[in-house]
Amino acid sequence: MDLTWFVSLLLAFIISSFIYSTWNSIYRGRNLPPGPTPLPIIGNVLHIKRGEMVKSLMELRDKYGSIYTVYFGHYPIVVLCGYDAVKEALIDRAEDFGARGRLPTLDQFIKGYGVVFGNGSRWKDLRRFSITVLRNFGMGKKTIEERIQEEVFYLKAEIRLQKEQYIDPTRFLVQAVSNVICSIVFGNRFEYSNDSFQKLLTMFSVVFEDMSSSYGQLLDMLPTLMSYVPGPHKRINKSMKRLTDFISEQIKINEESFDPNSPRNFIDCFLTKHKQEKDNPNFDRNNMVFTILNMFFAGTETVSSTLRHAFMILMKYPEVQAKLHQEIDRVIGDSRVPNIEDRSNMPYTDAVIHEIQRFSDILPLNAPHATTRDVTFKGYTIPKGTDVYPLLCSVLRDPTKLASPTKFDPNNFLDDKGCFKKNEAYMPFSAGKRVCLGEGLARMELFIFLTTILQHFKFVPEKTFTEEDIRPVMAGFANLPKFYRMSFVPRV
Ligand code: HEM
Repeated sequence: MDLTWFVSLLLAFIISSFIYSTWNSIYRGRNLPPGPTPLPIIGNVLHIKRGEMVKSLMELRDKYGSIYTVYFGHYPIVVLCGYDAVKEALIDRAEDFGARGRLPTLDQFIKGYGVVFGNGSRWKDLRRFSITVLRNFGMGKKTIEERIQEEVFYLKAEIRLQKEQYIDPTRFLVQAVSNVICSIVFGNRFEYSNDSFQKLLTMFSVVFEDMSSSYGQLLDMLPTLMSYVPGPHKRINKSMKRLTDFISEQIKINEESFDPNSPRNFIDCFLTKHKQEKDNPNFDRNNMVFTILNMFFAGTETVSSTLRHAFMILMKYPEVQAKLHQEIDRVIGDSRVPNIEDRSNMPYTDAVIHEIQRFSDILPLNAPHATTRDVTFKGYTIPKGTDVYPLLCSVLRDPTKLASPTKFDPNNFLDDKGCFKKNEAYMPFSAGKRVCLGEGLARMELFIFLTTILQHFKFVPEKTFTEEDIRPVMAGFANLPKFYRMSFVPRV
């Protein structure tokens, strides 16, 4: 090696060591929780294995403990792991950790409109309004429970039409669950044979898949850089545009027959609110469209994927399925429709549904939070507006709260006498000020859908499932179950 080469190499080494140590000291200088040293521009992206955001964050927890910092580009993210840290932030310090953090995969289109991504007074107004409407105030004659029972009636009929053939249940489940939201929001449902509605629904699944893909994960970490890179993440905005166009169209149709004296659905209630609070921009058109989009987005894929996980788990453990059949036969019988009051008489079913939700861990990363002010937490200083990830996967599998954290076991929610037993690790809907506002609706749907389908059918798999098959994939934003086919064999 000639001397010039040697000197250049030495210089390059000295300069990069200098940049690295200055960088390091800048980051260490902040009193944020510890974490791996970030690199200039890309932060800790190299610490996140491609397409394995959840696993990588859990591995960093093993090294840095229950609270640590990672950098996505130059943005610090404070990661909270385990029941104690998540509970302390989201429940005990709810106000401090109650803002919504960045989610670049969706932010670029949603721009802070609507309840899920709203902050400040916009979020407060839209959340209060949505909760009131979902509690059935002023929404026409049908209760939400009746809307669910009506939909499961159609779902049952559709399943019967398949005549015990092996099918992928995804399409029916997504349609049925989104029809419940349609019934609440638009006041009507769509036929399962309606092709254009079907195509629209696949948009939701596509967005969830694209967000959870390795490209989606990179986009969340390095939004500016990824905006120049081709890949499936580029589809997200297009899919979102089609979804908002559909919602705007439905709002227009609804408006034509709007009568403020007899509100029929969520849109009518929003239109009334808009008229009552003319000068309040929180109830403008954009917030209406995006709050409705939020309900579909948050309420369709989550519930339908949980049901798909549920079917798979019940086929893997036929003895659990048999015990559910027994309890349904004993408490409900075969001649009436299950209702939500049955739940308190069905501890085994209740425990199994809790365990399905815990085990399938639909949103392992939670939705991102942010601090509302400068916060001192566990001796660290987290500046206002810092993104915080309270990892639900780490709560749902917290070994300090569960006897069998990694195995599917309904006993996690049963006492020695077979009565239902609460467990603090059950946090699939998150907790605190931002807790899922559709929790009541989702739990009612899961109970009525599952008990009604099990009342009428036995689930038979096309192929036997292994423990590995039923384990959540833990890739990115959403835990979608693996593809499978099954047969619904009539019982009554
Ligand atoms: C099994 C089903 C569901 C699960 C596991 C689930 C889970 C979650 C989680 C983890 C969050 C984030 C909470 C946080 O930021 O701390 C959330 C928020 C939300 N969910 Fe759900 N959800 C489900 C069903 C639904 C349904 C059916 C709706 C329909 C109305 C819904 C509407 C929302 C909304 C609007 C938010 C945002 C709340 C806010 O920012 O204030 N979710 N959900």
